Amino acid sequence: LYGTERRNSRGWNLRDMLDTGEIDAARGDFARATWSAGPVLAAAAASGGGTEHEVRNPARPDDLVGRVTEASPDDVENALAAAEAWKAPAGERAAALTRASELMEERFGELFAVLCREAGKTQADAIGELREAVDFLRYYAARGRELDAPARGVMACVSPWNFPLAIFTGQIAACLAAGNGVLAKPAEPTALTAQLAVACLHDAGVPRSALQLLPGTGKTVGAAITSDSRVSGVCFTGSTATAQGINRAMADKMAPTAPLVAETGGLNAMIVDSTALPEQAVRDILASAFQSAGQRCSALRCLYVQEDVADTVLKMLYGAMDELKLGDPWDLATDIGPVITETARDDIAAYIDAARAEGRVLKELSVPSAGTFIAPTVIKVRGLQDMDREIFGPVLHVATYKARDMQKVLAAINGSGFGLTFGIHSRIDDRVAEVTEALRVGNIYVNRNQIGAIVGSQPFGGEGMSGTGPKAGGPAYVARFTKPATRRLDP
Ligand code: NAD
Ligand code: ALA
Repeated sequence: LYGTERRNSRGWNLRDMLDTGEIDAARGDFARATWSAGPVLAAAAASGGGTEHEVRNPARPDDLVGRVTEASPDDVENALAAAEAWKAPAGERAAALTRASELMEERFGELFAVLCREAGKTQADAIGELREAVDFLRYYAARGRELDAPARGVMACVSPWNFPLAIFTGQIAACLAAGNGVLAKPAEPTALTAQLAVACLHDAGVPRSALQLLPGTGKTVGAAITSDSRVSGVCFTGSTATAQGINRAMADKMAPTAPLVAETGGLNAMIVDSTALPEQAVRDILASAFQSAGQRCSALRCLYVQEDVADTVLKMLYGAMDELKLGDPWDLATDIGPVITETARDDIAAYIDAARAEGRVLKELSVPSAGTFIAPTVIKVRGLQDMDREIFGPVLHVATYKARDMQKVLAAINGSGFGLTFGIHSRIDDRVAEVTEALRVGNIYVNRNQIGAIVGSQPFGGEGMSGTGPKAGGPAYVARFTKPATRRLDP
């Protein structure tokens, strides 16, 4: 199992929660529960006119998880008209966000089950994600207490499906901690998780005028709230292409001062040199490339392995891949769950097919018959110059390099234009220092896996096409959602 080190606030990890029966209780209570989501508005009841759709478990299409009613154009207009900044004192806002974190822990079982069944999270990933959402609420509440600057107004928060609880909650918590109102647009596949998170925030005391939920598509709801002059700024996490589109729409429709805080995609590399410990490198390559079915912005996409150790490292990697168990995340033994939708599966499968036709597939596993699975796959490339887009699934590209060509490798990494995560496995300190100094990358991981971040101590965010900053979970994040203000100093 991956990720067993993630602990809840009582210091428990997955193994402890299994021992105490908490996981079994959640699995028993919510194995067949269904949920519903729809617009949650401040002033008016939802119009009821929005499109409806069913949500099915990506690992098991016969498992109905719930139903979603999308926000109609009238709902979006009503939300925009009623939205307002949260004028309560900073301490009161912080107390409500902290209370929301407690409610998330109290409602652990339900949130855990919806993460596994709606988003296809493995159980270890679901616990890690819950932990991160709780951390964001507490950390941003604390940062909000320290602020002495006015809120911007109403922020549009637009989030991805791959961290449907942590990133969705983190964006909202930061904007609210600074005193803004929020219009929250969750990703299409994960509105049920979003609805439960919003319920925690409202039940904790966040007023409805300060937090409204607008499920719907990016093209309709997302585009409407990120191009309306009543909105004071946008907090976005998702693909680089969507962020670029939002940036253009904001330039046309919003005040030039409206900020866009965007955390976007990456073409993340790892270097394994000939001094690396192969066992450790293989363990970390496996987690970096395939945990969460490769559906993490931070995931390893291109491994550069030094030529003289390549055969050893790749042989061990293929052996370790053979041990991975693909399947339904509701099964505790599952290492790798499904990709999120049929569209995602078909897109990734077409990419692998094209590589296979060129004879570049070095290793692949087989997939379960039902559900939207992609088998972990290794594809040969010359380097990042052969990759023109982020493949958001369990696909690892591998290139070999000669020691004398290190500068070319670094140039290819910087030349990709992205700069999210980078990993290096080496036991030469000077080389690690030289390489990490040369790269323009947001988060660098040395002799460990390159996914994950820790709120408050390891802020996360990219450079170049990977994000605007400030880093999520870092000290500058909440302040970005306030207006810069100058205070008169006491004499
Ligand atoms: P996406 O860009 O397709 O969608 C993200 C959100 O934007 C969704 O809510 C979507 O509905 C909305 N959207 C789509 N079109 C829009 C438009 N025209 N106007 C406004 N909103 C619109 O991304 P995704 O598939 O949900 O998520 C995967 C991507 O997110 C990957 O590229 C991944 O790297 C990135 N990501 C980045 C981070 C990070 O911290 N850097 C974290 C998680 C995911
Ligand atoms: N911090 C998140 C990750 O590790 C976004 O992928």
